[in-house]
Amino acid sequence: MKLTSRSVSRALLVSSLVVATTGGALVLATSAVAATTLGASAAQTGRYFGTAVAANKLSDSTYVGILNREFTMVTAENEMKIDATEPNQNQFSYGNADRIVSHAKAQGMRVRGHTLAWHSQQPGWMQNMEGSALRSAMLNHVTQVATHYKGQLYAWDVVNEAFADGSSGARRDSNLQRSGNDWIEAAFRAARAADPAVKLCYNDYNTDDWSHAKTQAVYRMVQDFKSRGVPIDCVGLQSHFNPQSPVPSNYQTTLSSFAALGVDVQITELDIEGSGSAQAANYQRVVSACLAVARCNGITVWGIRDTDSWRASGTPLLFDGSGNKKAAYTSTLNALNAGGGTDPTTTTTTTTTTTTNPPLPGGCTAAVSLNSWNGGFVATVKVTAGSTAINGWTVTLALPSGATVTNSWNVQRSGNSWTNVAYNGRVSAGQSTEFGFQGTGVGTGMEPSCTAS
Ligand code: G3I
Repeated sequence: MKLTSRSVSRALLVSSLVVATTGGALVLATSAVAATTLGASAAQTGRYFGTAVAANKLSDSTYVGILNREFTMVTAENEMKIDATEPNQNQFSYGNADRIVSHAKAQGMRVRGHTLAWHSQQPGWMQNMEGSALRSAMLNHVTQVATHYKGQLYAWDVVNEAFADGSSGARRDSNLQRSGNDWIEAAFRAARAADPAVKLCYNDYNTDDWSHAKTQAVYRMVQDFKSRGVPIDCVGLQSHFNPQSPVPSNYQTTLSSFAALGVDVQITELDIEGSGSAQAANYQRVVSACLAVARCNGITVWGIRDTDSWRASGTPLLFDGSGNKKAAYTSTLNALNAGGGTDPTTTTTTTTTTTTNPPLPGGCTAAVSLNSWNGGFVATVKVTAGSTAINGWTVTLALPSGATVTNSWNVQRSGNSWTNVAYNGRVSAGQSTEFGFQGTGVGTGMEPSCTAS
């Protein structure tokens, strides 16, 4: 049997039946077959594996072949930036960005938006602005662009690179920063108002080492936002590594520390300069660190082939200039297939599975996994389609007495009804999607049931 469809190629671990005859006796053996693409292997643990895409490469058949085969998430490398989407004030331009979104959608990939507010790649008209005029223009940009893509994206890097390098732990000086220290939260609130379902992320580089002042400063900002109810759902670690800025030994601590604040953590622009087994080992370390943290839910590499990279001379990516898989590809795939480890952000892990509407045509099941600590929990709810695809789902799930929800993702909630959002309603036969929420109190004893629509 030849399995060719994209959904099958992204299937979870499958059991294969090996049949052989030995001296007339029939020998049956089952073995686990590892997924063979980055996207499929990441999906085994509920994660995505993405890449940055440049619109002008969508006519390159080698590039597109790898893109479509390997990846489940796309970030526009430059096409959603401020200079691209609002080249003249109040004149919006979405052509190249829309081409990337259309391509991704047609391939069943999701899209991370990058980026709404940034000191760099501002169009000339914005570079010349300051103060309240700039604040208004920035908020208008956030509102207009987030509205244009409302319901279409998985996440937005709402604000990019707002902190200074070095030991100060201060904000980076920029015209945006000079408009008032609250510019970041203002951007997040405007993004939430424009697109309530998209995940809102803060994204930065040199925030990989837990001991660095910049990492600590971003951590304190996210902690402050969570405590004051500023809408933030995720933190992106760009993770551009090279010999001067290697993968830190405490990388997993950084990931788990951010996750413990109640946000998703995503590796958003991964590239690691080098070659051969040393580079492969570094990719393996990064991927394994992510898989060891429950809320590190996706990895994006910053380009496909080495020649596509902004740092091409450092050969930092997973495919060589001809599109061949490098050793780093293999180590990445193997690390993804090895699955997750333990998550130091959690103190206890229990899993409750309740199956209703058993896997009949048109049905779905729901199962909840719980990571609990003293006073709180993160619940991950897995929705699985039955023997036919479903186009929408609602999970009925009551909170235990005394528990409250502080944050949820990949879902719309109305009381005890938890319904799909735009990008995760369709689930192929036998496949799954996940949503989650963080709560206070005790989360044990939840009994979800699922209804397909
Ligand atoms: O498209 C023009 C081309 O017409 C012109 O001839 C050429 C001459 O310089 O420039 C081309 O545009 C370049 C563009 O990349 C497309 O290749 C810009 O000059 C160049 O500045 C731009 O660089 C991008 C860089 O962000 C700008 O800050 C890189 O592609 C992009 O990979 C990089 O991405 C950033 C993330 O957004 C944020 N984190 C860091 C990351 C790496 O720098």
